[in-house]
Amino acid sequence: MSKTEPLTYVGDPAQPCVMVIFGATGDLTKRKLFPALYNLAKANLLAREFAIVCTGRNELTTEAFREQITADIKTFATTEVDANVWDWFLNRTYYVSGDVTAPESYQKLKAAIVEADKAHNTHGNYFFYLAISPNFFGETVRQLGAAGLVDEDNGHWRRVIIEKPFGRDLDSAKKLNAEIRQVLDERQIYRIDHYLGKETVQNILVFRFSNGIFEPIWNRRYIDHVQITAAETVGVEKRGGYYETSGALRDMIPNHLFQLVSLTAMEPPTSFDADAVRGEQSKVLHAIAPMSPEEVLANAIRGQYGEGEINNEKVFGYRQELNVAPTSTTETYVALKLMIDNWRWAGVPFYLRTGKRLPKRVTEIAIQFKSAPLTLFRDTPVERLRTNRLVIHIQPDEGISLRFGAKIPGPIMRLGAVEMDFNYEDHFGKIPSTGYERLMYDCMIGDATLFQRADMVEIGWSEIEPVIDVWNALPPRAFPNYAAGTWGPKEADELMARDGREWRPID
Ligand code: BG6
Repeated sequence: MSKTEPLTYVGDPAQPCVMVIFGATGDLTKRKLFPALYNLAKANLLAREFAIVCTGRNELTTEAFREQITADIKTFATTEVDANVWDWFLNRTYYVSGDVTAPESYQKLKAAIVEADKAHNTHGNYFFYLAISPNFFGETVRQLGAAGLVDEDNGHWRRVIIEKPFGRDLDSAKKLNAEIRQVLDERQIYRIDHYLGKETVQNILVFRFSNGIFEPIWNRRYIDHVQITAAETVGVEKRGGYYETSGALRDMIPNHLFQLVSLTAMEPPTSFDADAVRGEQSKVLHAIAPMSPEEVLANAIRGQYGEGEINNEKVFGYRQELNVAPTSTTETYVALKLMIDNWRWAGVPFYLRTGKRLPKRVTEIAIQFKSAPLTLFRDTPVERLRTNRLVIHIQPDEGISLRFGAKIPGPIMRLGAVEMDFNYEDHFGKIPSTGYERLMYDCMIGDATLFQRADMVEIGWSEIEPVIDVWNALPPRAFPNYAAGTWGPKEADELMARDGREWRPID
């Protein structure tokens, strides 16, 4: 592919179906779902036989709803909106108001779905997207079951996409899994983790398993340690209410960061079949060594931002944010050191850090290789003998870079570290994307590879359970402990320094 060719989605249209969105007037729907559906429509990846039935608590007519989403798409589309495509899309979008806890709402919804199915010949296939408060996931699935909306009779398929957070600890995740599995088969359940919709995250698999040269060195013999960073400059914005019950650990670690750990550390699957891939991911998550309370104290660091400056602007501390208690002990930063107990990774620490109000928005995986076995360049100052490092840049820049030593030109032998860079956009061009296109398309073609299986969600929670327990038992004493606009609490640096390492500086 040359740089000049514009990049477009390619592929066959998805299967005919009705998509049903619960929480249709919410933020996720307008910011991500409609712009993603529009991108799919524009690329001809939706079946011609397609319809969307939206539902929410607001009393709106279909006409009023269509007007509303037409105004919203102008703000949130990732590309110029083509009027013909949008018209096609609008003509198959319907709205019914309803309360997810009321059985009669499902009867109304059912009538609207059946009608849309007939009008657009969608072959009786439905999928439901639960973009609603997690408190209603179980109830909504139960009611869908009671209304007969998820029975796969006469060769029709019925699928349900469930947003995050899936539970708030191991017990609640297990309970929710049990509840929804009374109604749905595992293969009908699509637990979303939007990190898996990111191109570069998907590319980890391709990078590792389609390039023969990396696999032989992808292990404890050559890798010193791995650092995974997911840093955000934003604070909690308007989500103080939710965040107070969650905190950075629950919000980011068992889902997004564990996805990155599992893709980086998993064994090669025997195929790219959903269960082969997810089986390997699940195995490696099970191999994360459970932490004892002493290990939690040493290897799990928490922080909360105080006031500070981001991009030369003064910002509030977490405790001053909307819907946050003035004495809140909720963490907005976490750093963890994990060990994976298997042959490939024994002795190789995985350091994870994530936080809000850090100086830069960046998500990346840095693989730090061991030094060369023998230092031949004795006269070179030691800081110039840098080890090889491979960085997978996930966002905002997408790409991969490899650092290696090179001779600095000149008559004297001097060494420097240089980077070999691959940047997605430079090479392939930019593709308009919200990150949800692939996930929705996959659900419409029945490919669950990029969705979380029940056991993956449960193992994620069970790995962080010891941290939750110790942190609950010992409330933090010195919050806030980092200023907004800095790289987190000093204990996170000490965690690395203790092992003779440091966080990769990101500028
Ligand atoms: C969400 C979290 O799942 O992921 C948010 O609830 C976080 O708190 C977001 O900001 C980060 O996603 P992204 O795609 O911006 O890295």
